[in-house]
Amino acid sequence: QLEAVIFDLDGVITDTAELHYQAWQALADELGIPFSRAKNERLKGVSRKESLDIVLEDSPLPWTDAERLALAEKKNASYRQQLEQLSPADVLPGILELLDSLAQRGIACGLASASLNAPLILQRLGIASRFQAIADPAALQKGKPDAEIFLTAAELLGVPPRNCIGIEDAAAGIAAIKAAGMQAVGVGSPEQLGAADLLLTSTTELTVEKLLALFGDSGQ
Ligand code: BG6
Ligand code: MG
Repeated sequence: QLEAVIFDLDGVITDTAELHYQAWQALADELGIPFSRAKNERLKGVSRKESLDIVLEDSPLPWTDAERLALAEKKNASYRQQLEQLSPADVLPGILELLDSLAQRGIACGLASASLNAPLILQRLGIASRFQAIADPAALQKGKPDAEIFLTAAELLGVPPRNCIGIEDAAAGIAAIKAAGMQAVGVGSPEQLGAADLLLTSTTELTVEKLLALFGDSGQ
């Protein structure tokens, strides 16, 4: 039985996946490193530090840890500047309605985002109070595709993983949800998210009925 829905943030609740991409592209351009949307797919769901390591794979230079730290901070500063524009209008279509329907049915909501900026983003979107549990990525041993972040959110909610659904826009995220023993809902393309139990092309299609149907429950 469905007891909790655990959301990814960037690219599911709001389109910050695009802002992340723009900030990485700007950094890569500045450093003269080739970067593309195709490569950016590998950064989705991945921590800031690991994302930078992937961006720097195409650089011939041997970046030191201190230099890498400075570059990650630089990317984050330009990303956070973009976040200042964020408002409740930036919650993706269908998400507020879904949060409402889940609350009405007493289904808990959790957050499993790799972003250290997640609390700020939820606040700017005006939906922080909708989540009963937020897994802190800074406290984890392993990032997505490891199951840890989804398992942590479920534990904070006090719900067994088999009674949870995870919603993701990244391949690493779908892998993490499946490894956690949860039902995975992907929002995106079959090329990236083929492993999802339910694949939707946009958040407008996310309804509580579709989520309940994954548990063989029509909701009637
Ligand atoms: C994830 C994004 O949610 O958060 C990644 O999908 C990002 O692209 C990661 O790198 C870390 O985000 P932040 O805000 O801590 O740099
Ligand atoms: Mg995401």
